[in-house]
Amino acid sequence: MSGKREQWASGHGFVLATIGAAVGLGNIWRFSYVAGENGGGAFLIIYLLCVVFVGASIVFAEMALGRQASGDAVAAFENSSPGSRWRYAGWVGVIGSFLILSYYSVIAGWALKYLVGGLTGILWLAAGEGFGGYFNRFISNPGEPVAWQMAMLAATMFVVAGGVQRGIEAINRILMPLLALFVVGLAAYAATLPGSGAGWRFLFVPDWSVLLQREVYIAALGQAFFSLGVGMAVFITYASYMTRETRIPLFGSAIIVGDTLFAIVAGLAIFPAVFAFGMNPEAGPQLAFITLPQMFLAMPGGEFVGPLFFALLVAAALTSMISLLEVPVASVVHRTRLNRWGATTVIGVAVFAVGIPSAMSFGLLSGIQISGRGLLDFIDQTVSNYVLPLAGILICVYVGWRWDRSTALSAADLAGKSVGLIWLWLLRLVAPAMILLILFDSTGAL
Ligand code: PFF
Repeated sequence: MSGKREQWASGHGFVLATIGAAVGLGNIWRFSYVAGENGGGAFLIIYLLCVVFVGASIVFAEMALGRQASGDAVAAFENSSPGSRWRYAGWVGVIGSFLILSYYSVIAGWALKYLVGGLTGILWLAAGEGFGGYFNRFISNPGEPVAWQMAMLAATMFVVAGGVQRGIEAINRILMPLLALFVVGLAAYAATLPGSGAGWRFLFVPDWSVLLQREVYIAALGQAFFSLGVGMAVFITYASYMTRETRIPLFGSAIIVGDTLFAIVAGLAIFPAVFAFGMNPEAGPQLAFITLPQMFLAMPGGEFVGPLFFALLVAAALTSMISLLEVPVASVVHRTRLNRWGATTVIGVAVFAVGIPSAMSFGLLSGIQISGRGLLDFIDQTVSNYVLPLAGILICVYVGWRWDRSTALSAADLAGKSVGLIWLWLLRLVAPAMILLILFDSTGAL
């Protein structure tokens, strides 16, 4: 067991770190390809509904749970229900974030390779053969993706080992404002490209016929969970380092609005450019790694814009990886004699080992296909679309029903406020009902 528990230096630092957790590959790489595959504008509307009616109430609940326990994810359940099986809900978060980190670090590694390639110019030399060939050769190489994954994990471990204030809070204070600046700059630049209006229309003018496709709903729900970073105890863990004075409604809203705006502005950096250069927005997970470099090559100033974009992707990924690593590290520090350095080393090495098959899933292991998807793709889809929403239901039920009404409301700083009741009923009924409806519908059970 640890001695005195660490804390954030300030409320401001907490908000930046939590936005850092929420804003990541999910807002840039995943949002753009999932929105692209699912028709743009109409998808955006369902996504926003999922954020407001499902994701947001769970963010508040996770924060309330974490702050009152002021322990790791498991303690958040254990302390208020000693001896009950609810502690397994905490373990779902600990194991889930470990698993997400194992494949997330692979994609972050791809982004790092592209950043370094863009800066050194190697990336542009590859253009002759087309970026499709370049990307496929890279991800099918037996060793290279593993090496880049390791580099990203090593950076993440270094920050987490530094501690809550001097590691996590410090890096987020620097990177998050920079990221906001980068993404707004890129979107402004994209808006100046001739033909970019089609990208704005794609994102904001809904094609209503898309609403008839049932896959769109599950894709939007999964994307809302993944992008907010909810369900995996990240907010529980980060909120456990909060001081009592911090106000959950204010900070929670800042995180939700920040994450959503970031995804939309990133979309405004990507789609207008994709349309201006006649590329296909439905390229799938390869959008950021094949379509976009092609576009950077064609655009004036692309040798600068390209590395800037990949720097954005790497920095956003790093701050999310830090949060994913912190969840299991906090548990190990809380439950064993290992200190922060020891816990970070053990967990970091284990994540790396577990992630190797994902890194190789386009090369040596490309023969392994589950439901028509490669390993990494399959784990990502299963975790985002099923594990995160189901873990979300556990949090809804625990805070909404297992806690009594006044405990829940005061833990979330919502006692005596009319929004408190709205929050509670979103948590008790609306969010679980929407999750179940979408899950059943997507499996064809309805
Ligand atoms: N929210 C992060 C992103 O958008 O990339 C990813 C993430 C972080 C997912 C934390 C899940 C999580 F628990």
